[in-house]
Amino acid sequence: MIIGIGLDLCDVSRFADKGVCERFSRRWFSECEREYVKGRGCFTQTVAGIFAAKEAVLKAFGLPLFAVPMNEISVEHDEDGAPYIRLSGKALEVSRVRGSPDIYISITHEAGIAAAVCVLECR
Ligand SMILES: CC(C)(COP(=O)(O)OP(=O)(O)OC[C@H]1O[C@@H](n2cnc3c(N)ncnc32)[C@H](O)[C@@H]1OP(=O)(O)O)[C@@H](O)C(=O)NCCC(=O)NCCS
Repeated sequence: MIIGIGLDLCDVSRFADKGVCERFSRRWFSECEREYVKGRGCFTQTVAGIFAAKEAVLKAFGLPLFAVPMNEISVEHDEDGAPYIRLSGKALEVSRVRGSPDIYISITHEAGIAAAVCVLECR
């Protein structure tokens, strides 16, 4: 059963200043995300896509922005490059309260905009 859906758009230019990402990197991004981003050519669109994915996850759970630490919603990638979500800390607790749904995420970026959609399914 689908229990939640979240969609988010993010202006890539918000992340154009690398300093912003570096200053807030530990607060906003998990270690795995920071490592992934370092290896990307188009740094800003990847960061914006990851941030959009975090916001989409919050929406799907019906949580306001920053309701849980953003670095506890980690956007990781499998061997094909497909993103998936790994929760920790308070974010993981919230998920357990909701029945530990499977989390599906998709990210895109084009023309200065990054977008992500998240679907939650309880089996
Ligand atoms: C998935 C794919 C079609 C997206 O291409 P695109 O339209 O140029 O890119 P978009 O802007 O729409 O989306 C990019 C985002 O899709 C996600 N993505 C990457 N690979 C993906 C995959 N295999 N499946 C789902 N999502 C993927 C990433 O979050 C990526 O963002 P990032 O590069 O900043 O990390 C392309 O990356 C692709 O063909 N990858 C190879 C997939 C594959 O099957 N690999 C198996 C090896 S044989």
